[in-house]
Amino acid sequence: MKHLPLFFDVAGRKVVVVGMSAAADRRAATVRSAGALVVQVADAGTADFSGAVAAFIATGTEEGDRAAHRLTKAAGVPVNVADRPALCDFILPAIVDRDDVVVAVSTGGASPTLATVLRGRIEQALPERIGALAALAKTFRKQANALISQPAERRAFWRRLVEGPAGKLALAGDSAGARRVVLSELDGARRAATDVGIAHIVGAGPGDPDLLTLRAAQLLQEADAILHDDLVPPAILARARRDAELVSVGKRKGRASWAQRDIEAELVRRVRAGETVVRLKAGDPFVFGRGGEEVDALRAAGLPVSVVPGITAALGIAASTNIPLTDRRVASAVTFMSGHAAADATGGHTHVVYMGASEAASVRDRLLDAGVSPRTPVAIVENGTRPDERVVTGSLADLARLAVSLDSHGDAGPSLIIVGDVAARAVSTELPQLAQPRFAQVS
Ligand SMILES: C[S@@+](CC[C@H](N)C(=O)[O-])C[C@H]1O[C@@H](n2cnc3c(N)ncnc32)[C@H](O)[C@@H]1O
Repeated sequence: MKHLPLFFDVAGRKVVVVGMSAAADRRAATVRSAGALVVQVADAGTADFSGAVAAFIATGTEEGDRAAHRLTKAAGVPVNVADRPALCDFILPAIVDRDDVVVAVSTGGASPTLATVLRGRIEQALPERIGALAALAKTFRKQANALISQPAERRAFWRRLVEGPAGKLALAGDSAGARRVVLSELDGARRAATDVGIAHIVGAGPGDPDLLTLRAAQLLQEADAILHDDLVPPAILARARRDAELVSVGKRKGRASWAQRDIEAELVRRVRAGETVVRLKAGDPFVFGRGGEEVDALRAAGLPVSVVPGITAALGIAASTNIPLTDRRVASAVTFMSGHAAADATGGHTHVVYMGASEAASVRDRLLDAGVSPRTPVAIVENGTRPDERVVTGSLADLARLAVSLDSHGDAGPSLIIVGDVAARAVSTELPQLAQPRFAQVS
């Protein structure tokens, strides 16, 4: 190991950046993001380094770099000189920054390109919300350490928080659910009943393993058991952890299969027994996938469950066959419908309206004209799947008012309107940093 990796707390401390080059600006921005008081100067004098805890030099000329370097040495301040490893007291690693979780990669200055490539691989492998997991641990640190005095029990608690259902819910974006699990684990009286696993209802996409989502690929590596449809091809199952138990529960025309209620009972049984179970379904679990029924069964049993979307067959095939499902010149709507339900008069119709929130009144009128009941549930979802996702629900008659309530400051993000009986199920997870509840029922 050429350099000793350390994480240096520079918050509120003076760091000098010498130079006005792009490299100097990048260093100033990085150091500032760690809370340092950055003083950036074109030419440094000895006085500039007084009280500084570190200095970065990137003047753009060798002469300038060497002159500034001499001053830092005279001032006794540790220094990094861009692209001049021989003049560096410390190097700046390639960084993966996910809030409190930071991964630093160094090749000892041998190859910044290799460090960048490695950083890219780590970025891909790390769940996007790993920072939320750290935030969850931070929230409960004092409370847990005060409550659990035995070191072994305490270690087991933290391990369970990171690797168990709470951690998985946090990674899935359900911070409120994660906090609920931790709270119930902290509740000694309920501890015995909460030593459960978790189910992930995961979309496998249309069949090409490269069309799995990153989260689906991560969960396949974590699962104790994978209950999969017959339609999921071996190339996708091959991405599972080697010792995961693979159970085919799917059906194909003419072949005996598990009944839906047996699949649900099996999910509940395994999660109760503490397993991490992936229910792997072709395409997307919520498009002709019965994913909603499985979520309901797990929730009814009081068990943790997350849903991971997949690329539905229609979208996969649209791309692979060069059929744009909408094309503003010839098609402004697309309908996904089930062959089974075509003759089934009870099957409701879900409308998903893109680009509609700013014209909510005319969307409402068109749907009413088409015969949709004014009492039909609607949900407007802004910034979907992002940390600042917001959901408002109500009925079609109120659509215009709902859209205004969502955009009360005139700065709303992208949104979709979902109209149909299923919209009544809409829920959103609550994130700790938001003061206001993110889920609002407007009646
Ligand atoms: C029970 S539905 C499941 C749909 C799935 N949840 C989705 O989002 O694509 C099964 C049907 O999806 C369609 N399907 C799924 N994968 C497909 C693929 N790779 N190519 C063509 N059709 C596919 C077929 O019509 C198949 O009978």
